[in-house]
Amino acid sequence: MKIQRSQQEILLSAADTTNPVDSLRDEALSALEAASSPEQLEQWRVEFMGRKGKLTGLLRGLGSMEIEQRKVVGAAANRLRSELEEKFEQSQNAATSSAAPAGSIDVTLPGRKPRSGGLHPSTQMIREITQAFNEMGFQTVEGPEVELEKYNFDMLNIPANHPARDQWDTIWVDHDEREDMLLRTHTSPMQARVMETTEPPLRVVVPGKCYRYESTDATHEWHFNQIEGLAVDEGITFADLKGTLYEFARRIFGVDRKVRFRCDFFPFVEPGVDMSIDWNGNWIEILGAGMVHPKVLENAGYDSSKYTGFAFGMGPERISMLRNEIPDIRHFFSNDLRFLTQF
Ligand code: FA5
Repeated sequence: MKIQRSQQEILLSAADTTNPVDSLRDEALSALEAASSPEQLEQWRVEFMGRKGKLTGLLRGLGSMEIEQRKVVGAAANRLRSELEEKFEQSQNAATSSAAPAGSIDVTLPGRKPRSGGLHPSTQMIREITQAFNEMGFQTVEGPEVELEKYNFDMLNIPANHPARDQWDTIWVDHDEREDMLLRTHTSPMQARVMETTEPPLRVVVPGKCYRYESTDATHEWHFNQIEGLAVDEGITFADLKGTLYEFARRIFGVDRKVRFRCDFFPFVEPGVDMSIDWNGNWIEILGAGMVHPKVLENAGYDSSKYTGFAFGMGPERISMLRNEIPDIRHFFSNDLRFLTQF
């Protein structure tokens, strides 16, 4: 009954009987103005309009008033209740319309980091290898993936009936007018294309995609990348070939890795070799190489009594497999993010 008593005291001491209503009105309206959030408005409603709120307390105190005073104060208190209810509703509408609509963006929240893409592991390896050769003075050039038979085979000393053509099961391209277009089986055709248009001395590396009509296994894909290398000048020897490829192996595999050269045959080089890398006691072949065959130099218009050169062709996916302990080459092109995001 504390409220009743205090309201009564207020009423009795007031000279003007509407004063308690006026002062409650001032207090309620300024508190309502300060309340902006739905939570603050609810607090205001409980404090002023609730069952135990201040307005209810004032109305309860009417019972102990003189009849005349009760009439005046009662009417004023009821007007105040209507006014406060109306103002409360307005404030509530304003608060909910200024609140962010459901699903909208809260700009005050910390941002979410966007998922960024990355370079494909083949691209990373190609860039690392070509950069190593760029630093040794080789320029990077690129060539067509849809190639002419002439460059893929003929100019490389692989004539139509040469048994070496069997090594590259070829994917031929259907063309209305020509029957000599194919998906290149190696990057070596760029040897002929570069020599045809460039005077020696030259040093180039050629990264690019190759295609072979063959079944796949853990170390063979039907499409894969190669990086071709070609250096032609007066006085280039087999020592230059070995020195360049040793330096490449040091840069990519580290100084302690053992490297082995073995004789191999490619129609467009003489002599020909392959190079293997020691991998836990096993030799893994990563490239073919050799001194450019004099016929290839002549086919491109070079004087083979004046110029010599070396060439090599390597598979960056195989090299990445060795470096990153990837057990199966088919992971590179299966587009599985669980694999790709590891690089
Ligand atoms: C050639 O393609 C020759 N053009 C390389 C060459 C260039 C020799 C210049 C001499 C002078 P080969 O078929 O061995 O050679 O392929 C070279 C490299 O390409 C291989 O060592 C291997 O790393 C990669 N490679 C070849 N076939 C595949 C395949 N099916 N899947 C993935 N990588 C392959």
